[in-house]
Amino acid sequence: MFRPASPTETPVLVALAAATGIFQPQEAELLLGGVLDDLHAGRLGEGHSAQVWTDSADGPPVGWVYFAPTAKADGVWDLWWIGVAPNRQGQGVGDELLRFVENHVRSAGGRLLLIETSSTPAFDPVRRFYAKRGYSECGVVPDFYAEGDGKVIYAKKIAAPV
Ligand SMILES: CC(C)(COP(=O)(O)OP(=O)(O)OC[C@H]1O[C@@H](n2cnc3c(N)ncnc32)[C@H](O)[C@@H]1OP(=O)(O)O)[C@@H](O)C(=O)NCCC(=O)NCCS
Repeated sequence: MFRPASPTETPVLVALAAATGIFQPQEAELLLGGVLDDLHAGRLGEGHSAQVWTDSADGPPVGWVYFAPTAKADGVWDLWWIGVAPNRQGQGVGDELLRFVENHVRSAGGRLLLIETSSTPAFDPVRRFYAKRGYSECGVVPDFYAEGDGKVIYAKKIAAPV
């Protein structure tokens, strides 16, 4: 089940993010922890959201997602981070998280959802995960994250609600 991330569980989400391997531990604290602090303090723009997936109402987060509308274009949203606890990956939680974001964007009148990820072989399963769910690769910025680690941009058109 989904619920908004609470300020008290930021350390849990930072640890979860570090455990997924997308951040080094210090980076997780600085990047995700910093953004969550700003979010909870109301310092980010309207529409920014961090949601967690739990097995039960008072259970710990198993996965989380952070997304926001971009200020630069109308109806365009960015999925900034998505992660599932390593021992729970491959069981459909990522699918639920992605569908939650798409439904949210759709009901907010959004038309395009963008995701950026790494071009390295370690992220092959992640890129397949997006491609299989209807995301088109729109471009690569070589050496973006580091030498030999490019940024791959994915986009999916979000249909209007019927
Ligand atoms: C990418 C991620 C969010 C997917 O979540 P998930 O709960 O494992 O995804 P699901 O169980 O819904 O779907 C599994 C699918 O994703 C792929 N996948 C990606 N990473 C996987 C992993 N580490 N373990 C198992 N499957 C993985 C599988 O190929 C599978 O494909 P299928 O649809 O053909 O079965 C999750 O694997 C994760 O947290 N990865 C590490 C963090 C990360 O890289 N985030 C994205 C940064 S851009």
